[in-house]
Amino acid sequence: MDQEKLQQQIRQLAADKGALLIAHNYERDEIQEIADITGDSLALSIEAEKTDKQIIVFCGVHFMAESAAILAPEKTVLLPRADAGCPMADMVTAEGLKALKKQHPDATVVTYVNTSAAVKAESDICCTSSNAISVARSIDAKKLLLVPDRNLGHYIAKQVPEKECILWEGYCPIHDQLKVEEIKQAKEDHPDALFMAHPECRPEILELADHICSTSGMYEFAATNPAKKFIVGTEMGILWRLRKEHPDKVFIMPSRALICPNMKLTGLEDVLRCLQTMEPRITVAEDIRIKAKLALDRMLAVPRD
Ligand code: 13P
Ligand code: SF4
Repeated sequence: MDQEKLQQQIRQLAADKGALLIAHNYERDEIQEIADITGDSLALSIEAEKTDKQIIVFCGVHFMAESAAILAPEKTVLLPRADAGCPMADMVTAEGLKALKKQHPDATVVTYVNTSAAVKAESDICCTSSNAISVARSIDAKKLLLVPDRNLGHYIAKQVPEKECILWEGYCPIHDQLKVEEIKQAKEDHPDALFMAHPECRPEILELADHICSTSGMYEFAATNPAKKFIVGTEMGILWRLRKEHPDKVFIMPSRALICPNMKLTGLEDVLRCLQTMEPRITVAEDIRIKAKLALDRMLAVPRD
């Protein structure tokens, strides 16, 4: 079946079943095209909780659908590809975190949403790339355990120097491989471009950035900054909406390697099948869900900067 027909069929079935289609900013173009909502991890979790719709088709990776299932257990949360994971989320386990907490009993555990429900359940508060600094500043404790992204951890530690930060040694294999030489080359080729970078990039990359922000922060920066050219320091899926919303602006990828294979797994056939079969469904054991929800709710209660 051709792509347009498949997209129409999905939209029709979603309407018949009363399902909300949501897609992360890194999903394939054809998936973002049919989504009711696209956004960053924080925006999508909030939408999943507040929607009246009872079925959520989450086009993203496992931890994102799990966050929706934690926040809205009464809803049916479907992840079209059960094998869409996040290697960074797999770099920390609940057991590993428990062991680190024992070494630092006076620390508050701040956990990036890119983690399993079991890890969130061992955490005091969650954060995303769009609210990490506000979350860290909202905490009374002097000492923070920042889990699992060491790059986001470095970024928080620099912005919140009054706290002692202990970093977990995890990273995103996609953002972490971006090299200083690639940014310098892109800047040399496009001296009039501004460089916007996701905080999952290494500290030496963030040093070169004109603006550091979440994926949604990049849409906002491109919309509000009068510059005409931007070097994009994140996964290439973000280009679809940037180019659609700003046909007059130029967006440059500094590397060909900024592609997350997990975010590219979900195809239109997967979304259609998942709406037809109502599988795979993501659920979280109630004891873990309650604890993980507390960490997410504390994050959601922090006022935005
Ligand atoms: P955002 O929270 O900016 O959407 O990032 C999620 C993610 O997986 C980045 O790699
Ligand atoms: Fe995980 Fe990185 Fe892919 Fe985001 S881009 S889902 S952090 S592997």
